[in-house]
Amino acid sequence: MRNLKYTTIDEALQKGTVKVNLRGWIYRERKSNKFIFIVLRDESDIIQCVVSKAKNPEIFEMAEKLTIESSVKVSGELKKDDRAPTGYEVSVSDLEIIQIAEPFPITEHQSPELLYDNRHLWLRSRKLNAILKVRHTIVGAIHEFFRSNGFYEFDAPIFQPSQSEGGATLFEVKYFNDIIYLSQTWQLYAEAGIFSLGKIYNMGPTFRAEKSKTSRHLSEFWMAEMEAAWMQLDEVTDVAKDEIRFIVKQVLQHNRKELEILERDIKLLEHYAEAEYPTIKYSEALEILNSKYNMNVPWGKDLRTIEEAKIADHFKVPVVVTHYPIEIMGFYKPPSNDNPKEALCFDMLAPEGYCEIVGGSERSLLIDDMMRRIESDGENPENYEWYFELRRYGSVPHSGYGVGVERVVMWLCGIDNIKDAIPFPRTLTRKTP
Ligand code: 4AD
Ligand code: MG
Repeated sequence: MRNLKYTTIDEALQKGTVKVNLRGWIYRERKSNKFIFIVLRDESDIIQCVVSKAKNPEIFEMAEKLTIESSVKVSGELKKDDRAPTGYEVSVSDLEIIQIAEPFPITEHQSPELLYDNRHLWLRSRKLNAILKVRHTIVGAIHEFFRSNGFYEFDAPIFQPSQSEGGATLFEVKYFNDIIYLSQTWQLYAEAGIFSLGKIYNMGPTFRAEKSKTSRHLSEFWMAEMEAAWMQLDEVTDVAKDEIRFIVKQVLQHNRKELEILERDIKLLEHYAEAEYPTIKYSEALEILNSKYNMNVPWGKDLRTIEEAKIADHFKVPVVVTHYPIEIMGFYKPPSNDNPKEALCFDMLAPEGYCEIVGGSERSLLIDDMMRRIESDGENPENYEWYFELRRYGSVPHSGYGVGVERVVMWLCGIDNIKDAIPFPRTLTRKTP
């Protein structure tokens, strides 16, 4: 079977080829006296292959040795068969065994922890295969969205000398004879970049020492950020809404099959792709929570997950919430002119319990106010001198936001743990494999 031309299962099914040459791994197998049924898997799909003892006794003998995840090349005739898992079956006329797999450590009904321990093997599952394909679309869509809207890709350092999203979640790294931190955000450097490039974006690894165990936090995740000169809060929230709708549309266009494997409600995604997303103020969110849901959230408190979930489910589409209390916001989020107790910032909350997927703001232009807030966070404002200089040489209003890539993957795939939205998750309790 050396010089044969191989196709993927999907290509073979698309073309309706009669004689097929496939290669892949044994996904399932069932043996009887007369037939061996193997379900072959490759990157594209699965397909049932049947070996008949009567027709091919030698191949039948070889196939008897096959174990789950053994790697093989298979040739045969493809025909429609309604009893087969994907509606087609290959009647095997030739088989080459590449490797007989040792007993596979993952069998049906495993605990989640065992699956995480075996993540290097579990990546092969249909579920992870589908999620990773959706993730691929989302990442591609983000690049496409920004590139086709006049944004330049701009890279910031991952080693950073100071915090930007709170000292409590910094990862400290030995840096020659000094220490340095892993990036919590691209933002501060992006604020320098816009004075050259105007509108910029990036997608990169982001690190936060999140000390609580939740199903929505990773310690290493990917954030897709944008920053734009001249933009103000209303404009930047519009960009965020357009970006999210574009991502949903792209997933619907490219990942029907994966969404079906994941049993995602496609009608609902179609609604998210077209719907208008409302913008409300934090104070309006409290009004809804307190008057409609008896939740008694006092002004000044950050919204907790259950409160975010209520707000998004109230509207049944992603909701932008603006003007959070300035006291609980990072030093770079500026006070509103109308009410200095409110910050010109926003979060976008996804429905179905997925909550915050985007966070952003206008950027403060007030050096003294930022110095005071940095100091009250226990930091030395001198470390931010370069950042303040951006306000001294042609300061302009500017805004930006960050999208949590895994949060969006999780939401669009309808999965319940963020650890399944990234190939090798890192959390407080998980750093291997
Ligand atoms: O809201 P955050 O903290 O915003 C920033 O870091 C800004 N500097 C971004 C900007 O304006 N350029 O984070 C942005 C998004 C969140 O809305 C969330 O979706 C995601 O990043 N995120 C996380 N995702 C997974 N695990 C974590 N530990 C996350 N922390 C934030
Ligand atoms: Mg946030």
